[in-house]
Amino acid sequence: MRRMGNPNRRKEHWGSRLGVVLAVAGGAVGLGNFLRFPGQAANYGGGAFMIPYLFSFLIIALPLATSEWALGRRGGRMGFHSPLGIYYAVGGKSRFWGILGGLSALTPLVISMYYIFVEAWCLVYALQYLGGLLEPLGLGFSLLDGVEPGLKLGAETGGAEYQGLFERFIGANGDGSLFKGGLSPLLLMTLACAFVNFYLIYRGVSKGIERFSKLVAPLVLICSLLVVGRVLTLGNPTGIEGQSLLDGLGFMWNPSRDVVLESGEVVHRTIWSSLANPEVWLAATSQIFFTVSICLGATCTYASYVRPDEDIALSSVTSTAANEFCEVALGGLMAIPPMIMFLGAQAADKFGSSFSLGFIALPNVFERMPFGEFFGFAFFTLLFCAAITSSISIVQPTLALFGDSLNLSRTACVGLTCLVVLSGTAFVCWFTKDLAALDAFDFWLANFAPFLGGIFQTILIAFVWNISSLRKELDRGALIRLPRFFGFVVKWISLPYLILIFAFWCYKNLAERLKGVAGSQVAQLSLLYMAGLAVGLLVLSVIVVRKWKREESAK
Ligand code: TRP
Repeated sequence: MRRMGNPNRRKEHWGSRLGVVLAVAGGAVGLGNFLRFPGQAANYGGGAFMIPYLFSFLIIALPLATSEWALGRRGGRMGFHSPLGIYYAVGGKSRFWGILGGLSALTPLVISMYYIFVEAWCLVYALQYLGGLLEPLGLGFSLLDGVEPGLKLGAETGGAEYQGLFERFIGANGDGSLFKGGLSPLLLMTLACAFVNFYLIYRGVSKGIERFSKLVAPLVLICSLLVVGRVLTLGNPTGIEGQSLLDGLGFMWNPSRDVVLESGEVVHRTIWSSLANPEVWLAATSQIFFTVSICLGATCTYASYVRPDEDIALSSVTSTAANEFCEVALGGLMAIPPMIMFLGAQAADKFGSSFSLGFIALPNVFERMPFGEFFGFAFFTLLFCAAITSSISIVQPTLALFGDSLNLSRTACVGLTCLVVLSGTAFVCWFTKDLAALDAFDFWLANFAPFLGGIFQTILIAFVWNISSLRKELDRGALIRLPRFFGFVVKWISLPYLILIFAFWCYKNLAERLKGVAGSQVAQLSLLYMAGLAVGLLVLSVIVVRKWKREESAK
């Protein structure tokens, strides 16, 4: 088979099979597992969220992850590594699919812009706990001194002071506040994180990403087991009724419960009232897209570096399962149960979003826990390490896009990607008031766009490329055989399910969302910014696809 793509590129491949699985699993295990998942679960009713979530895992995560690996390796064999090139090649060299692939790179691009910022929060919190741990040795330090002296607070604060601290730390009290009085420690750490990301990416898939993932995976696992071990051995630390380990677990898994509204009114949420809300289904399914990183450009890019005759069937199932274990078994135990145990069930309604759970509720918990400073350090270190291996995977599709389409050296492509990503990070760091820009980016690209990406990608795989080619690709070098009904599921269950939920949500909730946008200037500005990026990607894709077409007909 003749290779297309950028001929000036040396061929890159993963070094070993374990390496690919660790790199892909490392890309998948990230803030989504340890922050977003518990936050979403708490927000959408614990056990009631788990039903659509597990359903989506079976009919979306497993089949679509496996088919995306096949799509990616097929594109890689034809010489492409970006969604633009892969869609073009696998979509029968059609303009339409090429351009759509180019546009789909918008999702990982925008997500990378704020992911790096949040990664820096984790780094600062990890260092803050380290500073506290080193204090008895006379080596203590605090990065938050300018914000608030230290993280130590009295038990009676109930989270209010941590909240104030966190809000000042991320600049949630005013746009541009992180830039006042020179670069804040948070901005410096954001730059440091960007540097680490781009350095690893520059080193390449095997020498940079794969080696780093192999190094970090055991660390993440050890730190998570330490924290989970601590949580499981706490019993009932406060002695208050309704705050034992079992209550914590019950909160996570019981489908119906009482919720305290902001007005103080208590309502009983039954499983049916939760399941009838399309927002829960949208949130659960997009959590699956986000955590497994499927239909977001990243998995097909990574899979395009798999050698042509190496297994993908087993690798995709292994990495998807590993991610799920980290999410449900580790992420599900680490945050919510200790919060219930120390702060009570009402804390879940107060801190029921990913960020307040991780950065306000958990520091409160660590403060009350024996050796809490050490476990705080372990928790934020694991969060930071998991975030780094994910952010490099999120940036990779953009780099591959420039690599496939521009005649530039590798260094120039990395530099260009870095500039584009940092421009968006700067946007998010500036508009920090109530995290409006970050929320807008996150909603439209991590909740909404993945559905469109998923629908189009599945149409491409199931109807354009077709199921028998998909099976053939999956069987090449495969160590396991997938069941025969696999293709049927992709075509007739996953795809209709995605369309149904998306349509249902648009029908019931889109108008309200748009009203919210009309009321917020920053949300509008963020949409404008994303639209600008989309136009840029569109123009680039049109030019490149035209060039490829011309080269094709000249032969
Ligand atoms: N799955 C990662 C997490 O759970 C996030 C992630 C990795 C991602 N690669 C991606 C998100 C590509 C969007 C696009 O944190």
